[in-house]
Amino acid sequence: MVTSPVFGLGYVRVQGADLGEWRRFAEEVVGLMPVEDGEGRLFLRMDDWVARILVEADSPEASTGVSRVPGIGIGWECRSEEAWASARRAVEDAGIVTGDGTGLTPWCRDWFFFTDPSGFRCELFYGGRRDPATQYVSPRGVRFVTDDQGMGHVTLFADECAKSVDFYSKALGFQVREGKLSDDGALRAVFMSPNSREHSLALLATTDISRVGHVLLEVDDLDAVGRAMDRCLDGLAPMTVSIGRHWNDQMVSFYLRTPSGFDIEYGFGGRRVSPEDWSRGEQGGSGLTSTWGHRRMLPDGRFGPQLGR
Ligand SMILES: [Fe+2]
Repeated sequence: MVTSPVFGLGYVRVQGADLGEWRRFAEEVVGLMPVEDGEGRLFLRMDDWVARILVEADSPEASTGVSRVPGIGIGWECRSEEAWASARRAVEDAGIVTGDGTGLTPWCRDWFFFTDPSGFRCELFYGGRRDPATQYVSPRGVRFVTDDQGMGHVTLFADECAKSVDFYSKALGFQVREGKLSDDGALRAVFMSPNSREHSLALLATTDISRVGHVLLEVDDLDAVGRAMDRCLDGLAPMTVSIGRHWNDQMVSFYLRTPSGFDIEYGFGGRRVSPEDWSRGEQGGSGLTSTWGHRRMLPDGRFGPQLGR
């Protein structure tokens, strides 16, 4: 059983960003609904929530030193105030310092923040704000898969991968879905989730500094993936990984570069799992992440090796 106080990935906060470029990216490429909040922020909607990607021009966190990975905050949702309070105790019991959020905000009831063992700024919140009265309308006619699976997943290159895996699985109770080992038994990647999305968080071990790999957005129609890919091929955004299918969550997807330098994985058909009867798997062998496709796009436009190679 999953006993995590965290429900799933609720939002992603992007700071120090070019709002104009993000608006164009949302409208012309991925089909997120942009809403200016009047305070220098751009809220990108995927559903009834007032914001699933919060884009801010300022970088107020950059000067506080709370994060080793500037420019991004990962918003994990708790579904009640009680779960949220117990999540805070769990984080603090793991020896991590937390800080109060600003309380009531346009996008949630309350939140606190901390830095995870690999340096990523996390925000745990409850009471995600919905606004069903102002109808969500995608500028590209796209419907995203969210609801009980959260807004998607994040893939992070983590410089303290083993410590981060311990933190998310033991302190926060995320269920480990798969591990990936190198031939010498070293940890290469771990996929985990607190809900039925096959993974909400992927941690990839890196000897470099921590950085965001990608944020997955899932749509409910394969044609929507194909059309977004065509828009990239038409030059509206750089495509970074060709279309393919991941072996673990079975997502058919391609990757593209956001205006802030990290990638979005744009996918369809992700597998939904049953946490109650999940059996952890370990991948050995090739280390490839995909059953086909997912070739890196080289700077000269040619197709490079598959992800994981
Ligand atoms: Fe992914």
